[in-house]
Amino acid sequence: MKLILCLFLLGMVLARAEPRPVNYDEAGIPAYTLPDPLVCSDGTRVADVAAWQTKRRPEILKLFQHEMQGVSPGRPAELKWETVNCDKSALGGLATRKEITVWFGAEKSGPPMHILLYTPNAVKQPAPVFVSVNFDGNHTVNADPGITITEQWALDKKTKQEKLTRPDEKTRGQSVGRWEAEKIMARGYALATIQRADLEPDYPEGWRHGIRGFLLEKAGQKEFAPDAWGAIGAWAWGLSRALDVLETEPAVDARRAVVIGHSRMGKAALWAGAQDERFALVISNDSGEGGAALARRCFGETTAVINRNFPHWFCANFKKYSDQEATLPFDQHELVALVAPRPVYVASAEEDRWADPHGEFLAALNAEPVWKLFGRPGLGVKEWPAVNQPVGATIGYHMRTGKHDVTAYDWEQYLGFADKHLGVKK
Ligand code: GCU
Repeated sequence: MKLILCLFLLGMVLARAEPRPVNYDEAGIPAYTLPDPLVCSDGTRVADVAAWQTKRRPEILKLFQHEMQGVSPGRPAELKWETVNCDKSALGGLATRKEITVWFGAEKSGPPMHILLYTPNAVKQPAPVFVSVNFDGNHTVNADPGITITEQWALDKKTKQEKLTRPDEKTRGQSVGRWEAEKIMARGYALATIQRADLEPDYPEGWRHGIRGFLLEKAGQKEFAPDAWGAIGAWAWGLSRALDVLETEPAVDARRAVVIGHSRMGKAALWAGAQDERFALVISNDSGEGGAALARRCFGETTAVINRNFPHWFCANFKKYSDQEATLPFDQHELVALVAPRPVYVASAEEDRWADPHGEFLAALNAEPVWKLFGRPGLGVKEWPAVNQPVGATIGYHMRTGKHDVTAYDWEQYLGFADKHLGVKK
């Protein structure tokens, strides 16, 4: 009895303890052993593709669902959408711009999701498409005055109160450098994007205004189960729902859809690509902790820090791994491995130490055996490459110079990788 009490008290202390200090020193990384993606929980080895697909892949997926990302619902029966406007001469004539509103409840109820879709005018057949969640609004991805500025729930920086706001006109195109819409069109791809707040405003109570709150209430519940989805799950779910819509767009070839995201949206893109095998290619840009970076390295951001700062991102079960990385039943290389045998690209930035560039590379490297099982080449290198030296065949990787961001250099690599794998001729 005494022992149980002691363990309980120790648990309380650990749960309340401040996260370990952040480590940026390779020498300070704890010794760790990664789970083998090709060894099942019962100790048996995955010997062929069939065993991976019917046994090990579902097992890993389930572990991520129940211990980290939470379980997401499927496509709602009430999914409906409507093209609200269309301009055939957007981006100086390069593209057709469509805005599509999507509803998830009967009679178009619930929080609507607004898709901004550009398709390249020069391409006569259905175009492959990049699908992504943007941070601050569709109008921020390009200065195109025809993009509708939609309202979003946000926390006021000063008062810390939430309010429904329509972003200022001045914010049009504020993230243009991260999107390269004109270049994407010129290279023969379509681009579809949605804003994060449509799915879930990004603060702990934001779920009340997003899809998680809507579906929770519809199910007659008030609280999330310990393995129910979090915000990352909600954003990933939105990517799949966007793909549902894109499958019906004549100008888009949804069988060649690339799911891509930066940072927290890179975490969401990986999770969407892991779950939804309709995504033909998956790109993680600087996704870091909870994305492509190995948790066990405890370099830069850690599970404890992410759980403390973003308690709404992952399921409640994930909290027990704060500063307890060694007890995780998986590591992030297995999230990457869930994409196999489809191509995946993991990118880092040299100065983005918070996201642990080396840990991102090692996740890609340690996922490689799964591609090999399919007879596909993986990364093709064992050593972490020098900056601005992209590597890889079916698993792409680069670390560019500079900060945590998406740049023209990153897009150049992604477009080349997509050309190679999706058969786009230059
Ligand atoms: C924070 C957070 C990261 C996240 C990043 C982002 O830095 O700690 O986990 O990736 O924000 O989304 O930009």
